[in-house]
Amino acid sequence: MDRSKKPAAIGVTATPPQPTISLANNIVQATLPTGESVTVHLYGATVTSWRTANGAEQLWLSDAAALDGSKPIRGGIPVVFPVRRLPPILSSHPSRRSLAGPIVFGPPPPNHATSSLPQHGFARNSLWEFLGKSSSESTSSSSSSTAAADNAVKLDFGLSPSMLSPDTKSKWPYEFGLVYSVTLSREGLGTSLQVRNQGGENFEFQVLLHTYLAVEDISKIQISPLQGKSYVDKVRNATEHTESAASIQISAETDRIYKDLDPSVPIVVTSSSSGTDLFSITREGLTDAVVWNPWIDKARSMGDFSPDDGYKRMVCVEAGSVAGWTVLEAGESWEGGQFIRPSSTS
Ligand code: BG6
Repeated sequence: MDRSKKPAAIGVTATPPQPTISLANNIVQATLPTGESVTVHLYGATVTSWRTANGAEQLWLSDAAALDGSKPIRGGIPVVFPVRRLPPILSSHPSRRSLAGPIVFGPPPPNHATSSLPQHGFARNSLWEFLGKSSSESTSSSSSSTAAADNAVKLDFGLSPSMLSPDTKSKWPYEFGLVYSVTLSREGLGTSLQVRNQGGENFEFQVLLHTYLAVEDISKIQISPLQGKSYVDKVRNATEHTESAASIQISAETDRIYKDLDPSVPIVVTSSSSGTDLFSITREGLTDAVVWNPWIDKARSMGDFSPDDGYKRMVCVEAGSVAGWTVLEAGESWEGGQFIRPSSTS
């Protein structure tokens, strides 16, 4: 029988696999159809878990982290805003700058608006609102009859003055609006913060995405390329130095702010045993990066850092804008963020 005139099968438009998203007990969880997942606590809009498709956890979270809103979450990605308290010597350094408004030099005056706030600001101690999600479909060239899986999901979180305690509001009395977006994709995790000045006067802020990366062994990692970059070393009395190492290895307490980095050049955490890139971090609008590991004594001294030897399995590489101040003029907005690409073997 001649089947050459057989009609083509009618395409059935199946619903593409969707990310699953849940919100319960102030915790948002999202999982992609391909298996990657992220968990965000509304407390601080803190990302507390990010797993790649094979289930490998990419972030370090202290076993003793308070997850009940009683104190900032120790681990994951706390959001530092509007201040990262500067050690006294650094605050006399004339490195204030602006990305959105006029350049301001000199240290903040003692009565600076942020001076009575907690050391890392109020964003990580506040309960944020989940604003919802948007997802994007795969752009793969699959045939039209094959439904493409959604391969990214963006979760938005908001914070505004009406959500702060009266005490905090009085300490930082500006009309601001924050939208923090956490984007999970097969390629990695993006987190970005939009700051809006909705009031009538300018304000100054700093921001830091305090990312605790999980590593197998702190003695077997290297961080690069920071050679030739200026940094302020908090461990050495906040003195300023120029990085001489082609790649940084951590073998003692480390607490440095690397300044004036090109955000498009990835900061890469590499395994020194296998040579594999474990994380590659690109930034937008964030020209500083803090590298922090508390090491033995400081880890022990922190009540919410557990286990004591957890310092061996984490390193903070914190994209930020903290060496100076960003001035945001009335009615203006600013945005900065990071994208973390995990090891291709994760
Ligand atoms: C880092 C700072 O960003 O955060 C360190 O550079 C600080 O100096 C560390 O110790 C942890 O801060 P906190 O407030 O979470 O204990």
